[in-house]
Amino acid sequence: MFETLKPLPPDAILGIMTLFRADQHPGKIDLSVGVYQDEKGHTPVLDSVKRAERAILDKQDTKTYVAIAGNALFNKGVEELIYGPNHPALRAGRVSTVQAPGGSGALSVAGHLLSRAKPNARVYLSDPSWPNHLPLLKTAGLTLENYPYYDYRNHRVDFDAMAAKLETANAGELVLIHGCCHNPSGADLSNEQWQALTALCERRGLVPFVDFAYQGLAEGLEQDAYGARLMAERLPEVVIVTSCSKNLGLYRERVGAASFVSATAEQSKLALANAMNVARGIYSMPPDHGAAIAGKVFADRELSALWSKELEEMRGRLNSLRKLLVLKLAERDTPMDFSFIAKERGLFSFLGITREQVIRLREEFHVYMIESSRINIAGINHANVDYVADSIAAVLR
Ligand SMILES: Cc1ncc(COP(=O)(O)O)c(C=O)c1O
Repeated sequence: MFETLKPLPPDAILGIMTLFRADQHPGKIDLSVGVYQDEKGHTPVLDSVKRAERAILDKQDTKTYVAIAGNALFNKGVEELIYGPNHPALRAGRVSTVQAPGGSGALSVAGHLLSRAKPNARVYLSDPSWPNHLPLLKTAGLTLENYPYYDYRNHRVDFDAMAAKLETANAGELVLIHGCCHNPSGADLSNEQWQALTALCERRGLVPFVDFAYQGLAEGLEQDAYGARLMAERLPEVVIVTSCSKNLGLYRERVGAASFVSATAEQSKLALANAMNVARGIYSMPPDHGAAIAGKVFADRELSALWSKELEEMRGRLNSLRKLLVLKLAERDTPMDFSFIAKERGLFSFLGITREQVIRLREEFHVYMIESSRINIAGINHANVDYVADSIAAVLR
């Protein structure tokens, strides 16, 4: 039967990775990958994670299943992280959360639950968005449409265009918003824009679907949660999916959660029971190891303080590399103003150069990035930043 399957077009990101691996140049630079890297180009295991992991392994005496909704300590920690411990929706019993295999698994659980509650529900996605949003949510049976988001010419969020499009959406339709560190643009909503968007959702009866995959990597755990918390306070229904891949570096352990704010505590119970039933039909039980680690880090005072410091270090490195790259490019007197990169947040930004220039960077200078000119800021370090800036300046001449 497999002969009936159609060949697939090559995956753009995997294709770049293959080219990078085949490149024999000793000074090649990879700005295409989607993971955090330290100054040495390594994606480390955090100390807080290592310590929690050791403590868990020492004590663990069974590998039996935990629960469909996952690790309760983890779910509680995630809720406090997203909403803050005293959020009115939490106190009113209007929040239910299930652990899921990564942010992707959480998107899938949330997507299937939404499809069940509202068959063929329409979800508005930012243009551009993380490329996996489309297949994950389409597979869940949702109907997808774009709203304008990133203004490539002015390197900022085109909030007016976004709001104008969402004004045409119907009550009960969903708006997927990146909680912070927008992937791929790095351009986030300001607090004023979150307020305006919350008011728009309230007026039009739209349901926010917040993808919060990078909490803590923009301005801080609390600051980054401003929009999600505001929406959960003002609106009757909100869906929030989160991931510990980036902020705890637990990528391969697959740790995430889907959290649902319902209009009433009664409806919240329904949401939880159905989310667990959805999970049962996809993977049955989520993986435990990473969630047990994250749950311990959240709950243990010492580990949680250590994690905050480590997270601050990652965030600080990203934000200072942004400034450094802007400075180095400005020193080269390029015809483009790159100062917007320092205002953006998270792992990614578009350089805003042409596809031809991206290809020249790869073929002549061995600097690799996605053809949209999306770069991973963490791929830059103090040893390669001058070469990166020289190369970009050269292709712009
Ligand atoms: C916007 C966004 N959402 C969700 C995810 C999901 O990540 P994971 O499934 O690895 O936790 C990612 C990862 O790159 C992302 O960028």
